[in-house]
Amino acid sequence: MKVPVSLSDGFGDAFEQALASTCVEAKLISAADDLRNRRFLNRSVVPHVQRLTELFNRLTSEDASEGLEKYWKKGSNPENLRLAYFLSFMPGNLYRVASVWSELARLGFKWPQTQPALRAVEFGAGPATASSGVLAGEKHAPLGLPQQGNFALIEQDRQTLQLGERWFSKQAAFLGLPLYETRPFHRKLEPAKGWLPRQAPKFNLWLMSYVLNEFEIPPKEIARTLLEAWDRHLEDDGLVILVEPALRLQSRKMLEVRKEILALDAARADGAPPRMQLLLPCLGHQACGARADAEDWCHEEVSWWRPPYLRGVDELTGLDRKTLPFSYQVWIKSQKPRDQWLPELKHQGSLHRLVSPAFKVGPDWEFYWCGEEGKRRLRTRSDGVELERGSILVDAAFRGDKQASRIDGFKRSL
Ligand SMILES: C[S@@+](CC[C@H](N)C(=O)[O-])C[C@H]1O[C@@H](n2cnc3c(N)ncnc32)[C@H](O)[C@@H]1O
Repeated sequence: MKVPVSLSDGFGDAFEQALASTCVEAKLISAADDLRNRRFLNRSVVPHVQRLTELFNRLTSEDASEGLEKYWKKGSNPENLRLAYFLSFMPGNLYRVASVWSELARLGFKWPQTQPALRAVEFGAGPATASSGVLAGEKHAPLGLPQQGNFALIEQDRQTLQLGERWFSKQAAFLGLPLYETRPFHRKLEPAKGWLPRQAPKFNLWLMSYVLNEFEIPPKEIARTLLEAWDRHLEDDGLVILVEPALRLQSRKMLEVRKEILALDAARADGAPPRMQLLLPCLGHQACGARADAEDWCHEEVSWWRPPYLRGVDELTGLDRKTLPFSYQVWIKSQKPRDQWLPELKHQGSLHRLVSPAFKVGPDWEFYWCGEEGKRRLRTRSDGVELERGSILVDAAFRGDKQASRIDGFKRSL
């Protein structure tokens, strides 16, 4: 995914200071320097990062048996556990969400005029990660968010929610953005009973980051409950951003959810026309190219300059968060033509997105792309063209079969 340089560079010393002062105010550390103190990190943070990593890997395997709720309550030092999540996992997820925001901006998306006040909601917000990601995205790749508005944060762990509120305000001040209000909701979500109470208001920005995979309900049920919630609680022209792990099982689950949402939306009991449109990453509502093969899945990747302390944490834990993989979907409650939302995609012909890295092979680039006809492997001349996972080719003329096709030319790449 192409991310603006200012965003990938935006997590240096100033970001670290904002993060450290949030931790000091929340009494999670005694001084900002703790973040660079290897002895402190080794003793108080690293063991929890390792346990959380183990837990997330278990959650993303077939035998997921225990969610974060139990984990937040377990362990001898819940403060250090929250600190470990905040320092080690939150910034990467924040950056993933900000990158998705920047992809919308890159393709020309503008915040809808029909929505003059921002009303965002984040589910399973943890420390307000996705909401803070929206702020970072808006700073470096603005969509033109209204100056007024609020973010409702729904989270089952009270202390994490409080940390999230604190962090969100700190981040807004650090980025010089409007101080949007936060509305904390300490609540245990039960999607089968509805993602929101029936009397809850409507929102125009719906955020879920690394949370859908925590619910052990089948994709069809996730799709049904989401669609019901969007019918009732998402404004027309409201935007939905879903970010999930890149691992095969979870990523495929997202692809199933996509399929089910499209099918349910197209076959409404009252015969009404579909309401939801998938804007990203797919360039259409066609059958998913990755789903066609039971072993395949679909994910993106972004690189960044990690916050300096995170490099230290990575060294101590053996993790490597230089490159961040993830799966994502952006939906909008609108049937206006896609070109009106993503004007950069206005074109006369076909669109294909690279869904693998592009490798140099002799004079060529080689990669997989996905489009209306599904997924296929291709080569094209590399001279003068920079391609990477996430690039979009407009009007490519190609020949060959799914395993080996050749692009003879294309109008432009995005
Ligand atoms: C992996 S964390 C992700 C946190 C945050 N969205 C992020 O991207 O960093 C999952 C979060 O969802 C919350 N969560 C899981 N199940 C929940 C439920 N049933 N109700 C409310 N929150 C829940 C957990 O407490 C945790 O904070």
